[in-house]
Amino acid sequence: MAQDEGTVQAADADVGGLQRALLAEVASAGDLDTLDQLRVTALGKKGRITALTKTLGQLDPDTRKHLGQRYNRLKETVAAAITARKAELESEALDVQLQAERQDVTLPARPLPAGRIHPVSQVTEEIIAIFGDMGFTVAEGPDVENDFNNFSALNMPPEHPARQMHDTFYVEAEQDGRPLVLRTHTSPVQIRTMLAGPPPHRIIAPGRTYRCDYDMTHTPMFHQVEGLMIDRRTHMGHLKGCLTDFVRAIFERDDIPVRFRPSFFPFTEPSAEMDIGCKRQGGELTIGAGDDWLEILGCGMVHPKVLRAVGVDPDVWQGFAFGMGIDRIAMLKYGIPDLRTFFEADLRWLRHYGFGALDVPTTRGGLSR
Ligand code: DAH
Repeated sequence: MAQDEGTVQAADADVGGLQRALLAEVASAGDLDTLDQLRVTALGKKGRITALTKTLGQLDPDTRKHLGQRYNRLKETVAAAITARKAELESEALDVQLQAERQDVTLPARPLPAGRIHPVSQVTEEIIAIFGDMGFTVAEGPDVENDFNNFSALNMPPEHPARQMHDTFYVEAEQDGRPLVLRTHTSPVQIRTMLAGPPPHRIIAPGRTYRCDYDMTHTPMFHQVEGLMIDRRTHMGHLKGCLTDFVRAIFERDDIPVRFRPSFFPFTEPSAEMDIGCKRQGGELTIGAGDDWLEILGCGMVHPKVLRAVGVDPDVWQGFAFGMGIDRIAMLKYGIPDLRTFFEADLRWLRHYGFGALDVPTTRGGLSR
């Protein structure tokens, strides 16, 4: 045995002392950072245990073996203590975090504030549901229109007196030498529909329209819905039947009398205005049988000149068109006296006149509840 007893005993004592000291430090490490610092100073490349193992090289083989094993056990013991303390500290940190983020799930739930559907949106959906059942699909056009679609193609050439009745908003941009306009009616969607594809056509076009006007029953922006039906044998009887069914469906009364009065629109021939029966009593208006009439929409057979303007042969194709104000229907149906309130964005008004988001109108389930 070439062991140097003295060296070994001294080293053993040192290791024992170091182990106690390190384990005490590990046990008292109060947070993960301190513990990690400790790991580096004990086990790291320049750590205290690593420094010890570096001295082994100068020793004789037996001493080296004995001390080598001793240092390894020290290393393992300290490493295990660090791992255990780390788990403890992590669990404590998690507890602290959970306490801080505590939610009292026994608190009563707050009801979500319910949004309301605007009467214009509701009535638009009602109109789409009714005409949808009659086989009409929804067509669209832009709010900014060109002169051809809004006027000329609808048999209102420049200088036509009917243009003056439209109180048009002009846009500072031109197309084909004429200013663009904010569409004054939804009728240009008739033109767009017929230019987009061959007949037959059966569409409605709800949307925003613009005219320079402002009082109880007029706002610069309002809503219309256009209707167009073109086929080989569509006639005035279809127009009357279709619109009679419509007004009875929208006002949800089977007994509403209707009448068609001759009228004039440049884009229809013949043209008519449709009235529905009503009763006016003490400032109150009731729709249905009565001794009075209420104008509800304009309509007529599409003028041959309009068909020609979009390349449809009027000797083969014919049909009807109609246009009405959506806001006006909403006012009549839901008893809203002033059109301007529709666009004031007053939440109290919307809560009063608005509709539940889940009250989707269908002709089967009831249009409004
Ligand atoms: N465009 C007309 C207006 O805004 C309404 C109208 C009347 C549309 C008769 C039509 C129609 O399609 O046939 O005053």
